[in-house]
Amino acid sequence: MSIQWFPGHMAKARRQVEEKLKLVDIVFELLDARLPLSSRNPMIDDLVKHKPRLLLLTKCDLADERGNKAWLDFFHSQGMSALPVDAKTGKGVGQIQPASEKLLQPLFATREKKGIRSRQVRAMVLGIPNVGKSSLINRLAKRTAAVTGDRPGVTKAQQWIRIGKTMELLDTPGILWPKFDDSEVGLRLAASGAIKEEILPLEEVALYAVNYLSDRYPQFLAERYKLKDLSLSGVGLLTEIGKKRGCLQKGGEINFEKVAEILLNDLRSGRIGKVTMEMPGDWHSDGGVEADGQNDS
Ligand code: G4P
Repeated sequence: MSIQWFPGHMAKARRQVEEKLKLVDIVFELLDARLPLSSRNPMIDDLVKHKPRLLLLTKCDLADERGNKAWLDFFHSQGMSALPVDAKTGKGVGQIQPASEKLLQPLFATREKKGIRSRQVRAMVLGIPNVGKSSLINRLAKRTAAVTGDRPGVTKAQQWIRIGKTMELLDTPGILWPKFDDSEVGLRLAASGAIKEEILPLEEVALYAVNYLSDRYPQFLAERYKLKDLSLSGVGLLTEIGKKRGCLQKGGEINFEKVAEILLNDLRSGRIGKVTMEMPGDWHSDGGVEADGQNDS
């Protein structure tokens, strides 16, 4: 799904999320495991406030193991609960229920003090477009019983999916916009496929990706495209990939648009290898990204 985020759309999305938040006890915040902070909505803390929140690092199957571990350590060190999940195969999805119950202990304690024994809880999925919200909801829905029906007293009919004995999940996710204020974040989002090419030129995104790969995962470029000289500039590497893949136009010049398509498809599908597109050390403590994308940790 491609959404152009204008101020009006952001305000509407925020209102819709606020309405859904009123209905739930816990939020599953989805972040792309390959670029967790870049795929995080900038308003999220303000929106969710003190509601229990479980971070789910989606597409963990596409990210590298070392990256997944570094990000889990990072979020845990910030006092946040986080789990890696792969909605395509369902790996990690079974951990969601027990992790949620742990997070909801304070709520259960408060209820008990009020004489309420119920452990029934409601949850919702929240995240930017393409992060895997529908895939996760579908997987949870398939694993468990069907949708449980409308709830009275809610202006627009909300459907709930029963998960296990005690949890109900809102069947539509909250959709929020990604950060666009930082050009490096935009390039990472585009490289991952989270935002569509119309926003950033394909060749610019491919140049960013090839530079990142030659810095962090040079062996992947060498293996996938049989490149020998990885000391070349980004444009030089794209040129070599173009030659290897026969991306030539009339006159024998390289068709960079075609090269960009090949590289980005290989990266997004994981065919090039498991790539984490940012590490915790790429971020300043003020939340900004290192200008050169180098990992100084
Ligand atoms: P959204 O609701 O947040 O917008 O995202 P959605 O579930 O539609 O997922 C976006 C794309 O990401 C889909 O691919 C989906 O299959 C893929 N995806 C979601 N979760 C995972 C995951 O954990 N691992 C992997 N590898 N991929 C995941 P698509 O190309 O748009 O469609 P298709 O491949 O399913 O045909």
